[in-house]
Amino acid sequence: MRSLHSSSATAAPAVIVIFGAAGDLTKRKLIPALFNLEAQNLLPSQIAMVGIDRVAMNSDTYRQTMGSDMASYVGNGFEQNLWDDNVDKVYYMPGDFRDPDSYQQLKTLLLEVDNEQGTPGNYLFYLATPPSFFGIIASELARAGLNEESEGHWRRIIIEKPFGSDLQSARALNAALHESFEEHQIYRIDHYLGKETVQNMMAYRFGNGTVEPIWNYRYIDHVQITVAESLGVEDRASYYEEAGALRDMIANHLLAVLSIVAMEPPNSFDADAIRDEQTKVLKAIEPFSPQRVLTDTVRGQYGEAVLDNTQHLHAYRDEPGIASDSKTETYVALRLKINSWRWAGVPFYLRTGKRMHDRYSEVVIQYKHAPNMMFRGALKRHKNVEPDRLVLRIQPNEGISMQFNAKVPGTEFKMSQVLMDFDYDDYFEESNTASGYETLIYDCLCGDATLFKRADNIEVCWEFLQPILDVWKSLPPRDFPNYPAGSNGPEEADDLLARDGFHWKN
Ligand SMILES: NC(=O)c1ccc[n+]([C@@H]2O[C@H](COP(=O)([O-])OP(=O)(O)OC[C@H]3O[C@@H](n4cnc5c(N)ncnc54)[C@H](OP(=O)(O)O)[C@@H]3O)[C@@H](O)[C@H]2O)c1
Repeated sequence: MRSLHSSSATAAPAVIVIFGAAGDLTKRKLIPALFNLEAQNLLPSQIAMVGIDRVAMNSDTYRQTMGSDMASYVGNGFEQNLWDDNVDKVYYMPGDFRDPDSYQQLKTLLLEVDNEQGTPGNYLFYLATPPSFFGIIASELARAGLNEESEGHWRRIIIEKPFGSDLQSARALNAALHESFEEHQIYRIDHYLGKETVQNMMAYRFGNGTVEPIWNYRYIDHVQITVAESLGVEDRASYYEEAGALRDMIANHLLAVLSIVAMEPPNSFDADAIRDEQTKVLKAIEPFSPQRVLTDTVRGQYGEAVLDNTQHLHAYRDEPGIASDSKTETYVALRLKINSWRWAGVPFYLRTGKRMHDRYSEVVIQYKHAPNMMFRGALKRHKNVEPDRLVLRIQPNEGISMQFNAKVPGTEFKMSQVLMDFDYDDYFEESNTASGYETLIYDCLCGDATLFKRADNIEVCWEFLQPILDVWKSLPPRDFPNYPAGSNGPEEADDLLARDGFHWKN
């Protein structure tokens, strides 16, 4: 549950100020993550949390409200005693994010908290708010002087995705943040980067002598990155109608995973050394011409379906809050090329979708066949022999497996594919119930930005995606819905790989 260079020392003392303290993210993820960090002795005794939201409450009622839900959000690891012992470190202040007076009140409250809790004036501002408030809150914090660092203390700001909705808005957001905070103070969170396997990809690639030599075009045939969700749009209709799968998932999680899979080895595990390499490889993705948007992207929207003759799944257009003629994509598949020596000629296929058959996220590295197939006879007679595949599972059952070919015991020479499987839960005693937020909040408190996105990284992603947004906007889809709920996505996505002689690993 740590980033690459965090030690097991406790984090720095600070007050964590959460804007949007009565919201969904705060109660489901942030406070449980703080609880888990406390349970693992990773927080110092001088730590406190101040919540701000427009709901009228005082600190006592806020503590009760959050406490009543904590057992269900933390799960098995919840200890009532630990909550009770620490609950007086939680404060609440009603306020409006747009109102400058709220920031003056916050400043006064923070001084009181510092006095009561012995916190030394370090403030971490967590913006768990709709994105339209990011610029306003940053600028009001600055107006109140709450952005100012001195040698004695630091000020940091965490913002949640989405980081813009296209290239122009992403640039505008970065510019607005930079008016009030310096880049080293800004932590853009993508909780996928806090997941064990995502971090383990770096450990696997750069911590083992056998991996890197064959991690290139000479040995790798192609790469598949899948983030499949079995749920539909749930209660996020108004956000999702505007966003769609390309903005919601590809712009963040999938390009982040791609950058770790494809980046060059950094010179060190310094945050900027890693983020330089991630940005460099994202810049090397071949830009999409309008023609390539037509040939190398697939968008889809789920239609209704009946699963196992019993479970009726609604079409996206029939979900609450969704327009009956919605053109929003709930599925995307892309075929990318990376113009570098390492990846010359290696296609990368990315896909993500809602209401897919299963919920899973994984990276599949498909290796080339052995150069001289002396077992061709065995291959012909037993068609199930496939190329070797390395699968990095991000969720569920985080782990790594290798599929390779072995001889079937017996007098006849038959070959069959076998699986060598490493499962995190089997191997390590530490249980991994973390959501990713634990790692990221801890790292931010420690000033370690390795797993957070830098401004240039965000803009490079949007530079790549902008032509797709433009072409899709000018050519609205005519075949939606084009995949049944509970399936593996539209047929066109299968064709995308079939054209190259491949198929998705489902
Ligand atoms: N929820 C998740 O699992 C999740 C996951 C990844 C990223 N995110 C991101 O995290 C952020 C927060 O998401 P969320 O789901 O927690 O949103 P949310 O439930 O709407 O929480 C936002 C909170 O801010 C309050 N608020 C809105 N305007 C305000 C104002 N002017 N002054 C004071 N309070 C105000 C809201 O009050 P009202 O309810 O009265 O509007 C609400 O309590 C978003 O950027 C989202 O994209 C969320």
